[in-house]
Amino acid sequence: MKTIIEPFRIKSVEPIRMTTRAEREEKLRAAKFNLFALKSEDVIIDLLTDSGTGAMSAQQWSAVMQGDESYAGSPSFERFKRAVTNLMPFKHIIPTHQGRAAEAILMSIFGGAGRTIPSNTHFDTTRGNIEASGAEAHDLNIAEGRDSQSLHPFKGNMDLQALDAFLAEHGDAVPVVMITITNNAGGGQPVSLKNIRATAALAHKYHKPFIIDGCRFAENAWFIKQREDGQQNRSIQDIVRDCFSVADGMTMSAKKDAFGNIGGWLALNDDDLAEQARVKLIQTEGFPTYGGLAGRDLDALAQGLAEIVDESYLQYRIRTNAYIVERLDAMGIPVVKPAGGHAVFIDAKRWLPAMDPLHFPAHAVACKLYEIGGIRACEIGSVMFGRQPDGSEKPAAMELVRLAFPRRTYTQSHADYIVEAFEQLQVEVDTLRGFAITQEPKQMRHFTCQFAPL
Ligand code: F0G
Repeated sequence: MKTIIEPFRIKSVEPIRMTTRAEREEKLRAAKFNLFALKSEDVIIDLLTDSGTGAMSAQQWSAVMQGDESYAGSPSFERFKRAVTNLMPFKHIIPTHQGRAAEAILMSIFGGAGRTIPSNTHFDTTRGNIEASGAEAHDLNIAEGRDSQSLHPFKGNMDLQALDAFLAEHGDAVPVVMITITNNAGGGQPVSLKNIRATAALAHKYHKPFIIDGCRFAENAWFIKQREDGQQNRSIQDIVRDCFSVADGMTMSAKKDAFGNIGGWLALNDDDLAEQARVKLIQTEGFPTYGGLAGRDLDALAQGLAEIVDESYLQYRIRTNAYIVERLDAMGIPVVKPAGGHAVFIDAKRWLPAMDPLHFPAHAVACKLYEIGGIRACEIGSVMFGRQPDGSEKPAAMELVRLAFPRRTYTQSHADYIVEAFEQLQVEVDTLRGFAITQEPKQMRHFTCQFAPL
């Protein structure tokens, strides 16, 4: 059969409250045109993030009932640890309440003034934790990763030459080498197994530990299976194990590829580093057999990890994105190609070339998409990155709109509805006006700032 279906039946549903365009225009005005300020009940399809927004399976809900809430030595932790090490063969598994908590603990060990940490592209919370420790964060993604039209199969790859030069130049100032799979900030683009291995080899040549931010590891492994020579006949589990077996540790947001609504972990092989991490964990998150989580969360994650490597699921997941990207591309709407793992990215700078980047074209697209279809997306452009530490304003490198897909939550008809909303948006695109920011906090303004239409 050619039709790729949702490989699940729906047992429990969450109704969507339908709204009219007039109502949504009013809600957006009341929210001062910040989509984060909308109530989720006023959103028809919520594509703000794929983090913690997925649907748990019947088996996960039943695992929740198995949760043992003992403070120390809970069997839920043993089941969680077994599920993690089955895929990622690390010696020490340290649960945290989400990915950024694992990053904070890691940076309490590796960060500090005068240090500099390379990655293909650090996610914002990783960068935030590095910078908060006084260290610097450096992105060394291949050039194709920054070109929305390049069809390179692994646009998330590390630039190995640049990394070699970086390690040679910075020497002792580099405490650790990181890589993010898939590369979220670069459009959910994958990293090849070959590139992961070569990055590990370079890190080890310079005697640096190599840590993987593994949030979307299963999606990354699916791309490796599809696109990398010699990987086609291998299981997702085997590919995942190969990716992590060359690393010295990992950080993880279990809100992505562990089907969790909350959770994360830090994994390490080195005993001394793990001891330091556990001391910090006890200070900030909790005892080492629960971290920042309840026993029931650990059981839900253990079951989620068994489910995420299912190929029918991964095929449906990645195909949904590719389908929307193909349809928008055929309509002439500039999209980041090829489709990434967890999100569709619209290139608003190319779609609205006449709009001043500091009038926030990607934000204008995201607002109109909400008015037309009740679809909530996220601006990744000059609203998010424009304000500089010295107070000046500078356009971001790209003006993107991210439509991130919650896991197992929406169906093909939702995908068709999204495409139809873009058809209408294209009819209206010449009428789009930019925005001015009327009020903003000192940092991370995109979450809470207020806008006025120009
Ligand atoms: N690393 C990557 C690559 C991520 O995408 C995220 C979160 C984190 C780390 C932090 O994990 O949220 O559990 O603390 N990304 C979400 C997003 C928020 O919408 O892309 P967390």
